[in-house]
Amino acid sequence: MTETFTLAQLSDPHLTAVSGFAPRYWNSKRFLGYVNWRRTRRTVHRIEIADRLAADARMLRVDHIAVTGDLVNLGLPAEHDAALAWLHSVGPPEHVTVIPGNHDIYSMMRGDRGIARWASYMGGEEETLAFPFVRRAGPLALVGMNSAEETPPFVAAGKLGPDQLQVAGDLLVRLGEEGVIRVVLIHHPPLSGLAPPRRALTDTAHFVRMVERSGAELVLYGHNHVPALHWIDAPNGPIPVVGAASASASRPIGDEPLAQYNVFTFFRHGNRLRIRQTIRGLETPDGPVVRLSERVLDCGG
Ligand SMILES: [Fe+2]
Ligand SMILES: [Fe+2]
Repeated sequence: MTETFTLAQLSDPHLTAVSGFAPRYWNSKRFLGYVNWRRTRRTVHRIEIADRLAADARMLRVDHIAVTGDLVNLGLPAEHDAALAWLHSVGPPEHVTVIPGNHDIYSMMRGDRGIARWASYMGGEEETLAFPFVRRAGPLALVGMNSAEETPPFVAAGKLGPDQLQVAGDLLVRLGEEGVIRVVLIHHPPLSGLAPPRRALTDTAHFVRMVERSGAELVLYGHNHVPALHWIDAPNGPIPVVGAASASASRPIGDEPLAQYNVFTFFRHGNRLRIRQTIRGLETPDGPVVRLSERVLDCGG
């Protein structure tokens, strides 16, 4: 790789205003989610802010944008439609990749196609959409996983399952042999201890074993709305696991900061791959989008 390549990560925009609640989709999970959204989240997550961050990424001319889930709130068909319109506003499918979060696959869909509407942003057709998927972007191979499943009220846990882990492991090995930079996208934090059990990925240990065995250069997640960096100590070198804040937060809430997003710049230093992580976002709700911090991740290999 002689040129640098840039990948932005926007996460958890929780975009849509909830309206037009068709009785067909009403159940206790959505009712409780709606109450919670009305009470707090409605005033936190603002589409205008997600738009400003996306515009900033376009202004920087990043090469590709990954959106790591929770585009909507209650997983309703009207929200999936609105999120598709938003994805179009962020960029065309060739430049944007999305994976689902637990709010996107939230509760019963009664046969609706749900997130399959976003198939072109997941590298495929509605009819053949499957996880994991692989998308090529310059020197990168983005491996999109689905950790979301329908859950009961008060549960936001996720699961990958043995089939998805097996296919992902085989894909990562093959991509590693090609020498591409493998970036795994997953909504839930994929390491144990990063979320309480009712919000956590249930098969983190299997995920870590799979990545240790098969290799990857970077793992990106969302869900917690908190920026974080951890490492998987794999035999071929440490693998950074980066969590992003919400891209639409109009105010801090608990340990969740104002809206932020990541820009990763991939370059070689000698034989080693380095990844510069720049966090951009808001310092004040009405202020400009600025660079908040920067560090270089040394990935070995
Ligand atoms: Fe979220
Ligand atoms: Fe989530």
